[in-house]
Amino acid sequence: MRQYYIAGNWKMNKTKSEAVELAKSLVSALKDGKNKYMIAPSFTNLDAVAQVVKGTNIRLGAQNMSTDESGAHTGEVSVLMLKDLGVQTVILGHSERRHIYKEDDAMINTKVKLALKHGLEVILCIGELLEEREAGKAESVCEEQTRKGLSGVSAEDMKNIVIAYEPVWAIGTGKTATPEDAQAVHAFTRKILTDMYGSSVAENVIIQYGGSMKADNAQALLNQKDIDGGLIGGAALKADTFEPICKTY
Ligand code: PGA
Repeated sequence: MRQYYIAGNWKMNKTKSEAVELAKSLVSALKDGKNKYMIAPSFTNLDAVAQVVKGTNIRLGAQNMSTDESGAHTGEVSVLMLKDLGVQTVILGHSERRHIYKEDDAMINTKVKLALKHGLEVILCIGELLEEREAGKAESVCEEQTRKGLSGVSAEDMKNIVIAYEPVWAIGTGKTATPEDAQAVHAFTRKILTDMYGSSVAENVIIQYGGSMKADNAQALLNQKDIDGGLIGGAALKADTFEPICKTY
């Protein structure tokens, strides 16, 4: 049985004191929660938030990391630095990284393998642009991102992989994929994972949905067979809007 996994991606929001305050409210709101939870503050707030979530049922996530462990990479943050702060999970291949900062599948795959080598859980984001959906290419885009993102990842390492399906046109726009449309891509992605790793591995992979998920649409999305959680942006920025999603089930 897959567990629901609700994750908050805070993106480039919150000062240190605001981040600590939100993390504290979530620790108390979710202390009896039955699901798996994660919050991903900005790099500069990781250390402070780590002190708040340490020993609780909320995992600490980072929003990205470098392709390299160390060296001349101005402005980048290494997996070793993240591990040192207590980070347990890293979001890789988010559409904002792919489309604004031009990260390609090869670069994302390098990061995925480096994170796994250091024992981090990876949330690998996949998803199509609006024009790709309209051209009937949603599935082929997701297939390519999944296969290339996971290239060289062993079946054994798949226990540390979570996939987040985030149709780019639904991120931060208020437009959500219908539960049925999202389910279709989730089921398709699980089929690809089955082809790559066999059904016993694929059936255990958590596939989150992301893109304008909120308290009022979470239940319909989470009711779908292959939707195992959410990667939430806007609604994760306040305890009042994140907590109800976390407690949908
Ligand atoms: P959103 O962002 O919930 O604000 O649409 C989701 C994401 O980008 O992870």
